[in-house]
Amino acid sequence: MKNIVTARAHTNIALIKYWGKTDIALNIPTTSSLSMTLEPFYTTTSVEFTDNESDSLILNSAMEDSSRVSKFLEMMRGQYGNFPKVMIQSENHVPTAAGLASSASSFAALTAAMFGLLDLEKDDSEMSRIARRGSGSASRSIFGNFAVWNKGENHQSSFAESFYNKDIGLSMIVAEISSEKKKMSSTKGMQLAQTAPTYGAWVEKSAIQLAEMKQAILQADIEKVGLIAQDNALGMHEQNRLCLEPFDYFTSETQRVVDFTKECYKAGLLAFVTIDAGPNVKIITDHATEKILLTKLKAEFPELTFDIARAGGAYEYL
Ligand code: DP6
Repeated sequence: MKNIVTARAHTNIALIKYWGKTDIALNIPTTSSLSMTLEPFYTTTSVEFTDNESDSLILNSAMEDSSRVSKFLEMMRGQYGNFPKVMIQSENHVPTAAGLASSASSFAALTAAMFGLLDLEKDDSEMSRIARRGSGSASRSIFGNFAVWNKGENHQSSFAESFYNKDIGLSMIVAEISSEKKKMSSTKGMQLAQTAPTYGAWVEKSAIQLAEMKQAILQADIEKVGLIAQDNALGMHEQNRLCLEPFDYFTSETQRVVDFTKECYKAGLLAFVTIDAGPNVKIITDHATEKILLTKLKAEFPELTFDIARAGGAYEYL
């Protein structure tokens, strides 16, 4: 067994969202989802065995509450047999301020690092299943470019796979609206959203949209990708507003960026939005349009910070 193993995984943004579970303990989703892995945002994680009495986590040089990762490591001990306590050091190169889900890259990097430390076979499907147990969206961060997480119905059948490992020219402009920690975690938010009377209809539509999205990606049709992703994401946020305990990740600024993006599209630019469990907006465009759109966005929203992200690669060992 190796002494210390370091792995890196990039975060991903879903174009067809995961927003609901049929099994909360196992993170089995209600929908299959599809994402693009982002090149500039990633987590680098090192793991080593320790004689300490508990697992520990040092995140960006500060000690963090390790209960979530400890639970994850206990799950791995259940799967692969007992192993000593683990010391984890993790650096997030994900602007949490940009509202990007660092749990996706974190659990994917931790999974890869642990597979190395335990000398497990580097089977992508198995790594995806295990990453999924840490955070659902992490199942997709094992892969580069476009990944599909087939929902499955139990631990064995629910994992992501590479869908199309090529850059189709898609760019995302991340608008940083708030750096505050999200008020409602994804885990809790999706559970509430499932009580919306329209939730079943969103799930059904999502399956149709996934099939259309796959076609659009294979055809490198960014307009179609953007239109479908936008409808899917806005539909997801609609469930939050219609559920039994309504809540909303949008702020007035979120809405302004959404409206402005829609105007840009009407004016002939490739510009579409997708939004996750927070107020920040990711604007979908293509490589040729990203700079023009960025200039327009900066002029309209001088108070906001924007990052451009293109597609990134699969996990790797360092
Ligand atoms: C809106 O993967 O963070 O980003 O499995 O409970 O940890 P848990 O949830 P998480 O949810 C991500 C939700 C989303 C959509 C997506 O990434 O598909």
